[in-house]
Amino acid sequence: MTIALSIQNISRSFGGVRAVHECSFEIQAGSITGLIGPNGAGKTTLFNMVAGLFPPDDGRIEFYGQDITGLPAHKLFQLGIVRTFQIPHEFARMTVLDNLMLVPGDQSGENLLAAWTLWRRVRRQERTIRRRAEDVLEFLNLTHLRDELAGNLSGGQKKLLELGRTMMTEPKLVLLDEPAAGVNRTLLGTLNEIIERLNREQGYTFCVVEHDMAMVRRLCDPVIVMAEGTLLTQGTMDEIMANEQVLEAYLGRGAAEDMI
Ligand SMILES: Nc1ncnc2c1ncn2[C@@H]1O[C@H](COP(=O)(O)OP(=O)(O)O)[C@@H](O)[C@H]1O
Ligand SMILES: [Mg+2]
Repeated sequence: MTIALSIQNISRSFGGVRAVHECSFEIQAGSITGLIGPNGAGKTTLFNMVAGLFPPDDGRIEFYGQDITGLPAHKLFQLGIVRTFQIPHEFARMTVLDNLMLVPGDQSGENLLAAWTLWRRVRRQERTIRRRAEDVLEFLNLTHLRDELAGNLSGGQKKLLELGRTMMTEPKLVLLDEPAAGVNRTLLGTLNEIIERLNREQGYTFCVVEHDMAMVRRLCDPVIVMAEGTLLTQGTMDEIMANEQVLEAYLGRGAAEDMI
């Protein structure tokens, strides 16, 4: 088994609040790892450190063995770590296809001089990107919305488009923070399927923070439980649901309903 991400004893405080405290765990390459825990457990803070929004106060983060602690977001993006909200929100007044074509960061066309001197290459590159965007749309079952303005999509379709935008970057690790929020039941099924297919067919590794336990159960193995800024336990969904400490962590915060 290859370890994609290794979190080693990381901590982060805000003022006097210990948001994450001496937290360690690993994410296996090729897994869909769930990250759950009561509100305030430190999940988002942890995601933010992995994605380079701010560095940990202490500890180390490795990506495929490379020390990435404190690297800025754009460097991590280049290494293949993508966080869904990091991809800019859809451009409402552009078409769905154009939203996808905007994503790759190293288009020579972005540079005026390169566009002048290398126009052939640029044209070829643009065609490649367009083809890739069309493939992504087909994968997402959004081909019929190709020329629709992104602003006209439903909440769930926007989530799919956001996932599509991550696909344009061909990422290695995708961090999804509450992907099910605001998605209707029908599209939730599609979203689940797409995450599964990206994992199985294209080898994406996912880490998913999600409150919808049905989604976590369906997608995630293992499930990591955080409480009070640190790792509480990890295992299969059945294992962690049978763990009294897990129930206590939720109940102790008066948030048992989060769990069901
Ligand atoms: N920018 C911040 N400033 C102050 N406190 C913060 C900040 N971000 C998070 N916290 C605190 O850190 C703790 C963990 O928050 P968070 O990472 O958002 O948890 P989760 O995502 O698991 O709900 C909470 O007590 C929260 O209030
Ligand atoms: Mg959060």
